[in-house]
Amino acid sequence: MTSAETVERTDAFLATVPDRATEESPAEWWRTAVIYQIYPRSFADASGDGIGDLPGITARLDDLAHLGIDAIWLSPFQRSPQKDAGYDVSDYCDVDPLFGTLADFDAMLAAAHGRGIRVIVDLVPNHSSDQHEWFQQALAAAPGSRERARYMFRDGAGENGVLPPNNWESVFGGPAWTRVIEAGGTPGQWYLHLFDSSQPDFDWSNEEVREEFRRILRFWLDRGVDGFRVDVAHGLIKAEGLPDYIPPADAASMGGEEANVPYWGQEGVHDVYRDWRTILEEYAGDRALAAEAWLPTADKTALWVRSDEMHQAFNFPYLQTEWDAADLRTVIDESLRAFPGVGAPSTWVLSNHDVVRHASRLALTAENPQGHGIGPDSPGKPIPELGLRRARAATALMLALPGSAYLYQGEELGLPEVIDIPGDARQDPTWFRTNGERYGRDGCRVPIPWTADDPAYGFSPSGASWLPQPAEWAKLARTEQVGVEGSTLELYRTLLAERRARSLGAGTLEWIDGFGPDAVAFRNGNVTVIANTGSAAIALPSGTVIAASGPVADGRIPADTTVWLAQD
Ligand code: GLC
Repeated sequence: MTSAETVERTDAFLATVPDRATEESPAEWWRTAVIYQIYPRSFADASGDGIGDLPGITARLDDLAHLGIDAIWLSPFQRSPQKDAGYDVSDYCDVDPLFGTLADFDAMLAAAHGRGIRVIVDLVPNHSSDQHEWFQQALAAAPGSRERARYMFRDGAGENGVLPPNNWESVFGGPAWTRVIEAGGTPGQWYLHLFDSSQPDFDWSNEEVREEFRRILRFWLDRGVDGFRVDVAHGLIKAEGLPDYIPPADAASMGGEEANVPYWGQEGVHDVYRDWRTILEEYAGDRALAAEAWLPTADKTALWVRSDEMHQAFNFPYLQTEWDAADLRTVIDESLRAFPGVGAPSTWVLSNHDVVRHASRLALTAENPQGHGIGPDSPGKPIPELGLRRARAATALMLALPGSAYLYQGEELGLPEVIDIPGDARQDPTWFRTNGERYGRDGCRVPIPWTADDPAYGFSPSGASWLPQPAEWAKLARTEQVGVEGSTLELYRTLLAERRARSLGAGTLEWIDGFGPDAVAFRNGNVTVIANTGSAAIALPSGTVIAASGPVADGRIPADTTVWLAQD
């Protein structure tokens, strides 16, 4: 595309979407937005190859408008060998042929904007694919060259450099270093990869890397995206000298509990986002940055959303909280103190493409470290009915909270984690790098069911699906739930409509007492919300029930149920 065409299309886009500070789409839309995560390969497949794509998304936008969300976030669709489902990018400014073309992206973006839906895209700055042009040049170049300086190449330790430069482990299991063969055919330097060996880490102390990412940001901003979800936003900068570090055995796989992990949350990372913020501010239309930063507390996470840095950060402490009233009250309090304390909105999230779906996770009886997943031999399998009941109650609680909320595709259908995926169908690098010791994340990535009777439940016209879909999913298909009173889809629609109508996202939370230790009870505007996390029923106070995650009868809120009551 010529730059004249870019300018023309950008103008057309600006005329239709941003700067529309209306009631429908307020200024600083990201403060209150409900953002729906699309995992493109599992959302909708138009081409019939069994992998979802951009035309598939475009064709389903009416269904998302009907659901009532404000924005979508797309996991990576850029060019990639797909070793980590697209989080290994080989060209940041092109669409992978699996998902379509740049023209398909533009069409999807225009169609979303035409429906008042904002679009944020994933940006993966910590590492590229090993097939990225820069990494291929680095492999061909000599130690000490400008090409190698874009990544983290180091000489090995021990005699002839046979040992890795330090003891760091990959998040996906195994060592975080791989040795290369030099031009002469001899083993040579090592490169760092915090994730798979196909995902070499960039060296962010190198100005050339910074400049390249400014270009990439502008490329997508010029096309009209509303912002970016920034992958591994707490990585990027590594401590001087790369000191040895092994995470404690019970640490979450990304972030850990430790104060100073030499590759997470290093101070210098904030300069990168201050720089990016100035770029976003060159553009009209309230573009936003959202940090994927796995840190143990809301206070630590809030450092990424100080007023001159990012706009939002995923609230992973909230996601990691169990279905327990006291723990939930604590994390909500901490979030509402920490994020607004730096001028940012709190965000809320229960599921994404890296964790066990909350319709299963909230009923797990065994420990489940992030990214490990569950499979046929996992201990403490969830009871599906219990999981779904809690998931519906947890979502009803989350969507009543002030701030912005993230949903993950398929949760509006009540999809559980898929446990029985055969080993030879699994694709997550975690599964391979740990020799099957960790199941990884495939169970939350299974293509979603749209219709009950069509091949692949309407996911793909050919019936192909890159991960097998369970037989029980026919009854969870969207067509089985639309217009059906009490279905999970209709519950989500009601919650989203009431949240919007009553401006709960922009509201204020006020705790209320008197419902016992197992209740999470608060007022937000004229809505009273009571979530019962215990096993005994709670008496329903006066008011009109405007939403309930399960049947409410005889003036009682049953176990694992959330109710919204209007006082008007
Ligand atoms: C993020 C992504 C995850 C990916 C990893 C490496 O955590 O959400 O899916 O594997 O980064 O890019």
